[in-house]
Amino acid sequence: MDLTGLKAKSPACRGCSLRSGAGQLVPGSGNPGAVLMLVGEGLGAREGRVGRPFVGAAGQLLGRMLDAAGFRREEVYLASIVKCRLPGNKKPALAEVEACRPLLAAEIDLVRPQIIVCLGALATRTLVAPGASVTRLRGRWIEKDGIHYLPTFHPAALLRDRGKIPLLEEDLRKLRAAYQALHTKQLALTF
Ligand code: URA
Repeated sequence: MDLTGLKAKSPACRGCSLRSGAGQLVPGSGNPGAVLMLVGEGLGAREGRVGRPFVGAAGQLLGRMLDAAGFRREEVYLASIVKCRLPGNKKPALAEVEACRPLLAAEIDLVRPQIIVCLGALATRTLVAPGASVTRLRGRWIEKDGIHYLPTFHPAALLRDRGKIPLLEEDLRKLRAAYQALHTKQLALTF
């Protein structure tokens, strides 16, 4: 199955109780052949309404920061760990994370990114390091199953604490350097 087929099939998911609400399931979006995937946490109200990830305030901040770091939104693939709207912006429950895991795994298999940026603790813990502290791991490359993971702060955390903005900028500069090396295949890789 390709990404379009996966997305067409996804609304039939009944993996957890979130699907019994009225909201739509919002798979990732962007370049289906992206070298770089960024994975967040769950959907905000706007993402649920619009049906695309990262279109609310946190997503817009992320978009501006990616832009400043030299990435166009269309060249990357943006996804969330949990793909249904979480009532009252609650933290996703483990059962909800596990219910969405096969869908995210299928997206990763189909897009085949070489780099995945884990935005926030949930993405970091779900994809690379269960129980890890994102504050401790941020900005460090972790290689797993042939993919280079870079944990960093979720943009929503920056909206709550603007002091973290320079730290995400620093991580995005590191990301840019590695991406450039992979993309142009001219520079030596220094992960
Ligand atoms: N935050 C996320 O983690 N994902 C989205 O899709 C939107 C905001």
